[in-house]
Amino acid sequence: METQLRTSTEPIPYREPTALAVRGVSKTFTGTAALTSFDLTIAAGEVHALVGENGSGKSTVIKILSGYHQPDPGGEVLVRERPLDFGSPDASYSHGCRFVHQDLGLIDASSVADNLAIVAGFPCRLGTVRRKELRSGARRDLARVGLDIDPDRLVATLSPAERTGVAVARALHEDPSHPVALLVLDEPTATLPDREVERLLGIVRAVAARGVGVLYVTHRLDEVFQIADTITVLRDGHRVANLPACDVDRAGLITLLIGSELDDVHAVSAELPPEHDAPLLVAEGIEALHINGVSLEIRPGDVVGIAGITGSGRESLLSVFFGAQRRTAGRVIVQGALLPSGHPARAMKAGVAYIPADRKTLGCFVDLTTEENVSISDLRRLWRWPRLSHKRERAEVSKWIERLDIRPGAAAAMPLSALSGGNQQKVLFAKWLRRTPKLLLMDEPTQGVDVGAKADLHLEILRAARDGAGVAISSSDTDELAALCHRILVLRDGRVVAHLTGSRVTAAEISRACLATDERSGT
Ligand SMILES: Nc1ncnc2c1ncn2[C@@H]1O[C@H](COP(=O)(O)OP(=O)(O)OP(=O)(O)O)[C@@H](O)[C@H]1O
Ligand SMILES: [Mg+2]
Repeated sequence: METQLRTSTEPIPYREPTALAVRGVSKTFTGTAALTSFDLTIAAGEVHALVGENGSGKSTVIKILSGYHQPDPGGEVLVRERPLDFGSPDASYSHGCRFVHQDLGLIDASSVADNLAIVAGFPCRLGTVRRKELRSGARRDLARVGLDIDPDRLVATLSPAERTGVAVARALHEDPSHPVALLVLDEPTATLPDREVERLLGIVRAVAARGVGVLYVTHRLDEVFQIADTITVLRDGHRVANLPACDVDRAGLITLLIGSELDDVHAVSAELPPEHDAPLLVAEGIEALHINGVSLEIRPGDVVGIAGITGSGRESLLSVFFGAQRRTAGRVIVQGALLPSGHPARAMKAGVAYIPADRKTLGCFVDLTTEENVSISDLRRLWRWPRLSHKRERAEVSKWIERLDIRPGAAAAMPLSALSGGNQQKVLFAKWLRRTPKLLLMDEPTQGVDVGAKADLHLEILRAARDGAGVAISSSDTDELAALCHRILVLRDGRVVAHLTGSRVTAAEISRACLATDERSGT
């Protein structure tokens, strides 16, 4: 590995004091060396991108910095040149380290204000929490990142983008006795559309300009070049590159990431599937929370994209079709059968599969093993009276682990919580694809998935469509929509405001359509 180490030829400008110095830090889980003798230096005011394939060790680095994981003996971490005690979230906080974790770490059943106060502390008097003060503090924290959310709303009711905003606001809470030295963001933009990504990057730049060091983890390589001064590349827990961002281009970075060159998946044929095939899905006049009268037909082989800014209805439409969210009006007909509102089990029976954007709470069971998570979507097939055939279960799951390249190799018996974020997303794919659904509904299907694996998952989606499934994809990633879809519905205020087909299915045109409608609405 060390032979692949690249160092900068240009010295990185040194600004005192160094925000973060990591030296020789390793982490071994039972059977897995997640991180090996890792080094990293971030100057004050520097934005440092940490990139690497799924499972390469990025979140492990972050969890060591936050005090969640205790590293193997031997290494050291200095924050503003003060040694950090390992395994102590309190020490990490008082050294000025702030985090936006990959799963955001919010408590769904609590209010926005309470979630913010978990870090900021609850204002109390005579043992009672002062709610008014709590709310106004929350509003201040939210305003700092440009958010206007009612502090009393439950986190469970927020959109993915709003949740990210709350997690960022929480990380940037100002505490004069422990000023921020290092801001760490683990894939903060996984479910954010372009405009909100821009806003977040603006916030990150402003934070860095105040002399805070920023460690930024992302799979979106465009962001790396937009924001980072310096890049560190991890592969299998080893640092394989550390260089200024201006010394490498996108293709070079992909080569560093995966060790070979990658062809982008080609856009699907612009031709629509034949009109004479009976539609698999007919949705008529759908109304629901955030949806105000959407109609749509999907035929076999059709790949339809759903685009729109946050709050446009993009995040709700597919879960309404599936029945995970109730509709108040309209009809959903799958292969001729009318689906009742709010009945996912009926939708599944009719051949519908749904991959939700929120894999942690809706998509998977993090305490169950990979094997259990995959097989649970259809146990009947594995049933050999009078019990489940574990032999069949193992055989089928290992086929999927190989097909989707789920890592590590021993993932089958590991609890899902021990898999990296991107690998959890692949498990979710396996869970639903094994049912060979007729209608595949997907929200943010490749969130957190690395650039190589994303191409593989895109091929799986196209393969399902080629085999006759109808596919609908809602995504904040316009490149993804352009690469996969025959046509795109653009939503605004819960209505379809544009329908892009043929040569208009490009990332630029999709972004324009989302933003143009936004300007018209005057928001
Ligand atoms: N609690 C755990 N127990 C066992 N193995 C673990 C645990 N947490 C992480 N790992 C393993 O450590 C390795 C690194 O995981 P990590 O989460 O750091 O990857 P990552 O680079 O953040 O990937 P992604 O881009 O998919 O989020 C993986 O092989 C993962 O399965
Ligand atoms: Mg991760």
